[in-house]
Amino acid sequence: MNESDVVYRFEQGLERISRAYRAAFSESVTEQSLRVVNARFTGPQGELTGLLKLIPELPKEKRRHFGQLSNQLKDEILEAFRQRLESLARTALEAEMAGPHLDVTLPGRFHTPGRLHPLIRTKHELLDVFISFGFDVVEGPEVELHENNFDKLGFPPDHPATDMQDSFFIASSPADGPRKLLLRTHTSNVQIREMSRRRPPLAVVSPGMVYRRDDDVTHSPMFMQIEGFLVDRHVTFAQLKGVLTRAVQRLFGSDIPVRFRPSYFPFVEPGGEVDIGCWFCRGWDKRSTECRVCKGTSWLEILGCGMIHPFVFEQVGYDPEKYTGFAFGLGVDRVAMLRYGISDIRLLFENDPRFLTQF
Ligand code: DAH
Repeated sequence: MNESDVVYRFEQGLERISRAYRAAFSESVTEQSLRVVNARFTGPQGELTGLLKLIPELPKEKRRHFGQLSNQLKDEILEAFRQRLESLARTALEAEMAGPHLDVTLPGRFHTPGRLHPLIRTKHELLDVFISFGFDVVEGPEVELHENNFDKLGFPPDHPATDMQDSFFIASSPADGPRKLLLRTHTSNVQIREMSRRRPPLAVVSPGMVYRRDDDVTHSPMFMQIEGFLVDRHVTFAQLKGVLTRAVQRLFGSDIPVRFRPSYFPFVEPGGEVDIGCWFCRGWDKRSTECRVCKGTSWLEILGCGMIHPFVFEQVGYDPEKYTGFAFGLGVDRVAMLRYGISDIRLLFENDPRFLTQF
């Protein structure tokens, strides 16, 4: 290329660019496309940049003149770019202002931390007490053999609890008959399982779900118990009373009165039930009460207990002449209802957040 060709190309180039950039800028409606267009002219590979690289090839006396023209044009383009950028930003802001309002009074999004179900909390509190006394925690199966749930605990074959009307039996193979397996009706099955597996001395608590055909405000077909039993030489009823009184008072307060009443369960002799003074009305230190929780009696039944029957020891291979022991079974739902003032047991199993978030 001779020098006059270069001059010609340079002039043409400057003219083309100065005509093109304005239109190209005004056609760019987003910041991104505007930046692309700007780079097309002034970027490292841009048209104007390419032209500037030709300066050394211009005749000496023209270099200064064309250099100035090119720099002027570059300034012009950069200024136009800046203005267009500003105008795009302004348009965007105006569109946002004209659009739907941001309602700063809307409630924020909050994350509710999870929490333990009141029944599980109560279970933990109960277990903590017995663990502190040195009891081991063991769990048993919810689907159980008739013999572990009833027979080995001394239930006679015609006992009403063993009736299809009272327990949930599970169909196993036809050869087994209809009554081989059932959903355990209490956690006392763990007595048989654990004692068959271990030798005394032992002290065990066993929490878990149990199932019965019962359904009203204080009975649910599914509920939770904690079984406890302790076997050694020379275990006495006085120790049973001591352990249970201490446990109950740890849970409900050391001033709560505890009373033992005789009662019958096939797997203990003697057997008893434990009542505590009504936690709601505290009627034992007032005269009369109309409390709906204890129905004016000022006592609440919370567990069954007794000295383990020699028959049970025989079933698990312990010598009843050598060992004695006590057992108890406690309704966790009952304790939870008393501690938290819940009047309907079914609330514990409906998983309604309006109820559960109160704890
Ligand atoms: N298993 C009994 C029930 O569910 C509760 C019970 C009573 C458990 C006396 C015991 C006990 O260990 O000694 O009604």
